[in-house]
Order: sequence, then structure tokens, then C-alpha cells
Amino acid sequence: MPFKTIIEPFKIKSVEPIHMSTAAQRENYIREAHYNPFLLHSQQVIIDLLTDSGTSAMSSEQWAGILRGDESYAGAQSWERLEAEIKDLTGYPHILPTHQGRAAERILYGYLGGKGKVFISNTHFDTTRANIEFSGAEAYDIPCIEASDHESEFPFKGNMDIVKLEELIKKYSAANIGAVILTVTNNTGGGQPVSMANAKGVAEVCKKYGVLYIIDCCRIAENAYFIRHHEQGFEQTGYRTIAQQMFSLADGCVMSAKKDALVNIGGFLALRNEELSTACTNLLIITEGFTTYGGLAGRDMEAIAIGLREVFEDDYLNYRIRSTAYLGEHIRAKGIPVLYPIGGHAVYVDAGLLYPHIPAHEYPGQALVCELYKIGGIRAVEIGSVMFGKYDDNGKLIPAPMELVRLAIPRRVYTQSHIDYVIEVFDDIYTNRKTTRGLRIVKEPKFLRHFTAHFEEL
Ligand code: F0G
Repeated sequence: MPFKTIIEPFKIKSVEPIHMSTAAQRENYIREAHYNPFLLHSQQVIIDLLTDSGTSAMSSEQWAGILRGDESYAGAQSWERLEAEIKDLTGYPHILPTHQGRAAERILYGYLGGKGKVFISNTHFDTTRANIEFSGAEAYDIPCIEASDHESEFPFKGNMDIVKLEELIKKYSAANIGAVILTVTNNTGGGQPVSMANAKGVAEVCKKYGVLYIIDCCRIAENAYFIRHHEQGFEQTGYRTIAQQMFSLADGCVMSAKKDALVNIGGFLALRNEELSTACTNLLIITEGFTTYGGLAGRDMEAIAIGLREVFEDDYLNYRIRSTAYLGEHIRAKGIPVLYPIGGHAVYVDAGLLYPHIPAHEYPGQALVCELYKIGGIRAVEIGSVMFGKYDDNGKLIPAPMELVRLAIPRRVYTQSHIDYVIEVFDDIYTNRKTTRGLRIVKEPKFLRHFTAHFEEL
């Protein structure tokens, strides 16, 4: 590559204004939002890195597809296009459309779950875990050992611990395992990729014990990039072919199309087994919609079918992964502690290390999230003791294992100058680090408190 500047491999055809604000205005906005960025109005945000989910910019081809959308209740052409595309990509014969990822999770894991059942994953995403636990089943996370060493350069920290997988299956007995779920990339585990060798290892264990193997594939194109560039033997393999090889190892997949299908809404479930698919189809019709649209409009299905092709293009994936790394590497060089190597869709900052003087019960991650907003109008999400903290019987906080802040990058939305701006804001974050103070929670709901809790500055 002769030049080091990564140019966005697209031109901009339609623009959406960003509302600029002053630091003084933002002090007011965040106070009115009770120091919880989930309660800010989007117009008060300059750069929104809250999530990469449903925030992608669609291509002109996708917008053209939106107009072509066939809105027939049954047998719509848009469904036929989408079904053919997913069959070709995954190799699975039974495709069930849903309105987003968690709807597919509810159908599949609700059916497979129930009291006494056990699910095993490299790391369950929160909605995955919630759907499993809601059914009465239990969910175990078994990330690989390398995942806990933040400085190690091991390229596949999203891997599952295969030794532990076999131990757990033996311990609970194969008949009680609802499914083994491989999340690629591992979102809750820092957006880290999973190697093909690991996906194969998981397949061998699942086959040996006759256990169902499901891939949570919402970021499988991003995962394919890491395999091609970091795993021996894949240097010449196309990204889509790599994804197809990974699908071929498993029995089915669950997808939130809001990520790597480059759309704003949608999802699906794809399965090899006919009996399982018939059972899930019954639930689909009761709760989502008829088999040829799930919870989706014809135009949504058209856009997903096109997005699933575009996401595997070489220029797109090269830009996508390198631009996430660009942000991560630059702030790391300034002394900001980040999970390393940088993952696919987000940069994870370790706020516990950045603010060692702020104890867990004063929420260092929330302090960083508020600083990012006040200094630069940047919205990020705390993934630490606000999100995962629990209380013991005496009301004392049991902190999360890590105090992280996720900077998730929406796909095809921000240019390099937006990201350079974010990098610059981190200069002030670093300069102010020793005087930054924590927060206290003054109001919180019983479940999923991070969405609506109110805070006060200490
Ligand atoms: N699985 C993974 C790995 C996810 O990251 C998500 C969503 C889901 C399933 C659920 O999909 O939102 O379409 O229902 N992740 C979003 C995020 C919300 O911000 O990481 P959904």
C-alpha cells in the first residue's frame, strides 16, 4: 500500500447536518440528562459512538432497493431475493426473517431453553443472555485464556475455551445443552475476532457430543477480515468465502442485520434442521409475522439482501477495520489505555486504568463518558459497573470485572476528520485525567439500569 491515508471508499450523496454546541451548552445538556448520555437528545450530540447497531449509512443501491421493495403479505419478491441471498451465504436451507437479532434469539433460545437447560458461549451478548435466562435456562461464558491479558497481541482473543467447553458438556450432560453459541466477533469480549481453527474446534466438540452449534453472526464479515489477515492459510481467500466456510461448520445462525447487513433494522434465523425450523416457524408466525416477512417490510428485506453483498467487498472491509484501528492506535499512542489489539467495530477504553483514583462505586466509566460529552459532544457507552454491577445482600456494590467505555463506530457514517476530532478530544481527556471525578447514582430502575439511571457529580 503506497499511501497511509485510508480514504473512505465512497462519495457522499446525501448529508445530515450535525448540530454544533458549545462546552457551556453541553454542561447544561448533560446536567438535564442527569449525567446519563442515554437520556440526551440526539441533536445535542456531535459525534455519536453509542452503538454500531442500526446506525449504518445505506448505499445508493440499497436506497434504490427500498423503492423496489415488494410489500405483498405473502411470497413477496423482496423476500425471495433475501432468502436466496442468505441461503447462498450461509448454506442453511431454512431461513426465518425477524425484525431484529433479539427476536430471532427469543424464538430459538426460548424454544430450546427452559429450566435445567444450559447454553455455552465465548461470551453471550446481553440480549442473548437475557433471552436464555428468561426461559429459565443458564448461560455460561467461556472466553479463551488470552482474552484476559489486555496487553497480549494474540490476534483471536474472541476465541472460545475448547477445553472448558468439553468439561461443561460432560458436567451438565449433552442432553441438557440447549446450544453452543459462537459470537463472531465477540462484542461483549471487546469486539475481538474468532479464528477459523477455533470455530472448527468448537464444531468437533459439538459433533462428538451431538450438541447444537449456533453462530451469532452479526459481525461475521468483520471477523472474516481478521481471519484473512491474521490466520495462516487464508491470505488468498475472499472474505465471503471465509464466512461461508465458517457457516459450514455450524448447524445454524442468528443474525442482527443492524450490523454487518448495513441496514437500520432487521434480522434472521437460519437453520439446517427441518424439525427445529418447523418449531421455530410456529413461534415466528405467532410473534413476528408470516414466514415471508417476519417483522420486516419488503423494502427492509431488499436493503438487507443488498447490504449482505456489499459488506464483503474488499475496499469496504479494508476501510472499515483499518479506520477502527486508526482511532484505537492513535489514542493508545497518547497514553489512553485501550483493549488491545483493536477489534472490528469499536474501541474499548479501560476507564479503571485511566482513572485509578476513582473507585468502582464512583463509576470511572461513567465519568469518562460524561467527560467525552462535555469536552467534545461525543456520546459513548459505559460497559462497567453501571451496566453490570450488582448489589450484595447489604446493598454493597459488587463491581463488574472491568470498567470499560465502548466507542462504537457506525458503518460508513463518519469520515476521517470526524475521527481525528475524536482523537483530539482525547488530548483533553488525558490532560484532565487526574482531576476527573466520579459520580453517584441518585435514581435507578430494577433492571438494565444503565439506560435510565440518574447520576450526580461528586
Ligand atoms: N448479538 C450481538 C453480538 C449483538 O451485538 C447484538 C446487538 C445482538 C445480538 C442483538 O441484536 O440489537 O438487533 O436485537 N448489539 C447492539 C450493540 C445493541 O450496541 O452492541 P439486536
